[in-house]
Amino acid sequence: MTVQHIETIPSVPGNHNLQSYESAYRSFRWEEAEKHFTWHRTGKCNMAYEAIDRHAEGALANKVALIYEDDDRKESYTFEQLSKLSNRFGNMLKGLGIGQGERIFFFMPRTPEVYVGIMGTLKIGAIVGPLFEAFMESAVTDRLSDAEAVAIVTTSKLKHRIPRDRLPHLKHVIIVDEQTEWQPGEVDFHVAMAQSSEELDITWVDREHPLILHYTSGSTGKPKGVLHVHGAMVQHYLTGKWVLDLRDDDIYWCTADPGWVTGTSYGIFAPWLNGATNLVRGGRFSPERWYRTIQDHKVTVWYSAPTAFRMLMAAGDETVDAYDLSSLRHILSVGEPLNPEVIRWGMKVYGRRIHDTWWMTETGAHMIVNFPAMDIRPGSMGKPLPGIEAAIIDDRGNLLPPNRLGNLAIRTGWPSMMRAIWNNPSKYEEYFRLSGWYVSGDSAYMDEDGYFWFQGRVDDVINTSGERVGPFEVESKLVEHPAVAEAGVIGKPDPIRGEIIKAFIALREGYAETSELLEEIRVFVRNGLSAHAAPREIEVLGKLPKTRSGKIMRRVLKAQELGLPTGDLSTIDD
Ligand code: PRX
Repeated sequence: MTVQHIETIPSVPGNHNLQSYESAYRSFRWEEAEKHFTWHRTGKCNMAYEAIDRHAEGALANKVALIYEDDDRKESYTFEQLSKLSNRFGNMLKGLGIGQGERIFFFMPRTPEVYVGIMGTLKIGAIVGPLFEAFMESAVTDRLSDAEAVAIVTTSKLKHRIPRDRLPHLKHVIIVDEQTEWQPGEVDFHVAMAQSSEELDITWVDREHPLILHYTSGSTGKPKGVLHVHGAMVQHYLTGKWVLDLRDDDIYWCTADPGWVTGTSYGIFAPWLNGATNLVRGGRFSPERWYRTIQDHKVTVWYSAPTAFRMLMAAGDETVDAYDLSSLRHILSVGEPLNPEVIRWGMKVYGRRIHDTWWMTETGAHMIVNFPAMDIRPGSMGKPLPGIEAAIIDDRGNLLPPNRLGNLAIRTGWPSMMRAIWNNPSKYEEYFRLSGWYVSGDSAYMDEDGYFWFQGRVDDVINTSGERVGPFEVESKLVEHPAVAEAGVIGKPDPIRGEIIKAFIALREGYAETSELLEEIRVFVRNGLSAHAAPREIEVLGKLPKTRSGKIMRRVLKAQELGLPTGDLSTIDD
């Protein structure tokens, strides 16, 4: 591969928290960073203590920890207030007989109750399971039953997607809003909070104690529960400091929902471990409302995603000009490749660089990033964090030289690494099949100066608007529709969303292709899984390409869709 780096955007000199990447990378040891936390003295820790109570007990007690706004609510909470509220929530759970290690899910819009509830859950050593509010019944059921969740925090509107009769472990449904009729097992959040004490003895846990379970998609099988531990805090803290570059006077806004790992690691843990004021905006995306949020709250550090930046770009430069965005000091992006074009546009309209960051649900925190004090090569994800060894390896685990495409891999054993796939040890081991390495499933190369460049997924996982969708889950839902005999699902490149979901289906005997039927099938997937998993395009084929063992050959479908060579067809059925 010949590689040309024509473009570099130098760092603006300034007082960055990490001034020299090279020297930090050479001398860094995790043990040093760990001294910041209680376990260094006591052998025990708790994420919620370090994120909230430590500040509530100290100089930051009256500092605003959470600013919340949506179109109806505008609220703010200090560290001290959050500490007391999360104590109440922890006591509420205890009162329900819930204890260490049990799974509490959150299935609701990102209002302050979610943040209070997550912290309260962690305080008693229970495990948090966040879910997107967009999930429909079968997506919710799969996750709750795999995790054997005992309680869920939700709203009166969403609770209908939780089939209690199919979830024998689920004992409590905590409802955060008003409703007139209460079913057995339902708990009124506001009443129970008022009845619970604001004093709580926090449960001190080992650093390997489970913290949070994030469900994410792979190319085969149902979503997998990625389990993280309290000890991840050291990396959340450090990346908040070095990558987000958080300072005392920052107003930090991460646009991600806590249903996604970005919305927890960087929407909750990293900012609060650093004592920053964390802004949360509920409601839907709109360029005007987003810019107004930055303007009104004087947001200084802004973490978002390529899809959002592309939509903002499409909204036109006049929209930017209508707002005062001069408070912005640092902008970051995650989730999919950040187009060089978007970075150039960001320089023009925001006068700032957008810093790409690469990591995954499984890695728990940043791995490869563009630091504020580093030159950016637009299109590159940057360089590995101090303490992280990233490499490009072949399928047998051999290191590849610069500029050769291969598997992006990380040397095992960083603090925020997942510790298990829930109920599925063999899935977990697949990631570590090449001895000493975590194999990401992404393909990339490293240039001669150590910058990493993302090229694509090795498997069939689809990344649509930054969200990972497993083709198998969509295919399984498609074939549940009476008209669908078989289905193959691929990601098709799209200028705004990165990829869209395209489904190829074969119809059962007796069904004819009509636009009404295709729309019905699309709605069927949307209502069964979620809007983001519903195929935007459906094409009917007489027959799908399959291997002799009966596996749908998605790569053949994709090649045909893109007009590319289909590659090796030796295993195809006919
Ligand atoms: O393919 C990579 C892509 O998103 C995948 C991880 O998705 P998820 O677990 O949902 O977490 C995303 C946020 C942590 C990766 O395997 N991805 C993530 N960041 C980037 C990216 N692709 C290119 N550039 C990135 N910066």
